[in-house]
Amino acid sequence: MAISESSARNLLRFITCGSVDDGKSTLLGRLLYDTGMLPDDQLDALRRDSHRQYPNGDVLDFSLLTDGLDAERQQGITIDVAYRYFRSARRSFVVADCPGHEQYTRNMATGASHADLAVVLVDARKGLLPQTRRHSYICALLGIRKVVLAVNKMDLVGYKQETYETIEAEYRVLADQLGITSVYALPVAALSGDNVGSCSARMSWYGGPALLEVLETVSVQSQQVSEFRMPVQWVNRPDQSFRGYAGTICGGRVKAGDEIVVQPGTSRARVTRIVTADGDLPEAHAGQAVTLTLDREVDISRGDVIADAARPTSEADQFAAHVLWMGDEALLPNRGYWLKIGTRIVNARITSIKHKVDVNTQARLAAHRLDLNEVGYCNIDLDHPVAFETYAANHSLGGFILIDRQTYATVACGMLDFALHRATNVHWQHVDVDKQARARSKGQQPRCLWFTGLSGAGKSTIANLLERRLGSLGYHTYLMDGDNLRHGLNRDLGFTAEARVENVRRVAEVAHLMVDAGLIVLVCVISPFRSEREFARNLFADGEFLEVFVDTSLEECERRDPKGLYRKARAGEISNFTGIDSPYEAPETPEVHLHTGDRGLENMVEQLVERLLPSESH
Ligand code: ADX
Repeated sequence: MAISESSARNLLRFITCGSVDDGKSTLLGRLLYDTGMLPDDQLDALRRDSHRQYPNGDVLDFSLLTDGLDAERQQGITIDVAYRYFRSARRSFVVADCPGHEQYTRNMATGASHADLAVVLVDARKGLLPQTRRHSYICALLGIRKVVLAVNKMDLVGYKQETYETIEAEYRVLADQLGITSVYALPVAALSGDNVGSCSARMSWYGGPALLEVLETVSVQSQQVSEFRMPVQWVNRPDQSFRGYAGTICGGRVKAGDEIVVQPGTSRARVTRIVTADGDLPEAHAGQAVTLTLDREVDISRGDVIADAARPTSEADQFAAHVLWMGDEALLPNRGYWLKIGTRIVNARITSIKHKVDVNTQARLAAHRLDLNEVGYCNIDLDHPVAFETYAANHSLGGFILIDRQTYATVACGMLDFALHRATNVHWQHVDVDKQARARSKGQQPRCLWFTGLSGAGKSTIANLLERRLGSLGYHTYLMDGDNLRHGLNRDLGFTAEARVENVRRVAEVAHLMVDAGLIVLVCVISPFRSEREFARNLFADGEFLEVFVDTSLEECERRDPKGLYRKARAGEISNFTGIDSPYEAPETPEVHLHTGDRGLENMVEQLVERLLPSESH
């Protein structure tokens, strides 16, 4: 998410946004053509194709320059952002060409995170469309404060000044709402090139420069972070004599002799050398990739941030943040994801969605989940503190992504707004009697047996028999049954995906406490999602958690239907019923897999006892 420093200010990074038919490729093609950046072979092909399209005219139809994105789209290949490079006499440009369809919002966000400016295209015949609002919103969210509004296809509205001015006025209102501080508007006709490379006589009422000149002269300042910050990419230790910390500086400058602090934490040291492939540097600045050596041994690993000791970053483990959801599956509060900030990866949960934003109207709406392309304002909880800055202050240490722990897909990008200090004054209280002591006094090894399977699979029946058996052998147990817990602890929760995530999280936390109390805990919840079972597993020490898959087919559960719920679900009287209209993700590698079809109950209980207890004790 980092904005790379466009250190040479004769480089402009921009993004083009607009709806599908607003003429983005024509405008880009025209810019490339007018700056002489179209290769000869492409130009020849374009002339041929255009002639075929318009046999009587001398038009170059740049939309025929089917770009890489179009080609990919037709082949159904994943589309990312296409970066194009071109230059004029005065400036070099990198333009992020992002697909216009709504489903590609994620690519737009990627493009926008690296851009200094956005060129927003509007079709003069149509005015502002939902996509225009959506794209402008995302640009603003990702920190773009400058927009060039190109009102295109002026030829199709008779070059009418009034039409243009209405659109411009409407856009300025939008920009104002979004905090886009500078808007330069101009009328263009990309197909014929009017006001693109050079000014057009056909719109003499517009007295300003053509688009290219605007882009050449607009002043841009990418984010300047004055304090030194470098997230550590890796620790370079080729032999005993050298230990260096490599990374890309994302703020400020550093020179040999400077005092630094390693964050999160308080270890300090002085920089001894700034090593690069081209030799040592006396000083390095933001955007440069370097290896630092220090004057003493400090414990530093990948993910740490090396910062100016006098002006360190903040540290926190809870935040309020804007989240743009890019996952095909919805974001569910309380589900665990990996969060990557700088080079650090930690476990994270969205603890609540404060609101989501209707990006077309900027209205704030209540939400329990975020679907693909939705933007929400959320509270986030991390399992470790991180060094951070707000996104407004530093995109590299204030921007983050969320990664799905099952698929490793990037499912969101986010912008930290501020830290929540709710937990910072709550410390862990040490107690003398610990889990080991309690387990010893009970003469047992505490465990959590996590029974998962469809409703009616037999989880509670098997666990009940097992508990009786363990009790008769003198063990201390507790059976946590999903249905029973839903009468008390979880009575506020229903059966939507997000309610189940929270249900299972609470059950897991309580089971964890009971194991800490020294008990053998038998948990029976459908727990239909792998992600939450994984969360539960991670609360426990190695070997303490046993996932027991009670594997009964849907047909069999439905045939048994002990509570008559399947019948109701089929009749449409209950919705979100597991196996019917709500998914069950079967365990892939459970510790115990009980195939209930081919074994008697006693047999299965025996299998569990053997797995649980030392052989001499039963
Ligand atoms: S879980 O999915 O959140 O783990 P849990 O195990 O607590 O579910 O509760 C499941 C029990 O609730 C089922 O055994 C069944 O008796 C009852 N139930 C009521 N409605 C539903 C539903 N829509 N889906 C599944 N179980 C339901």
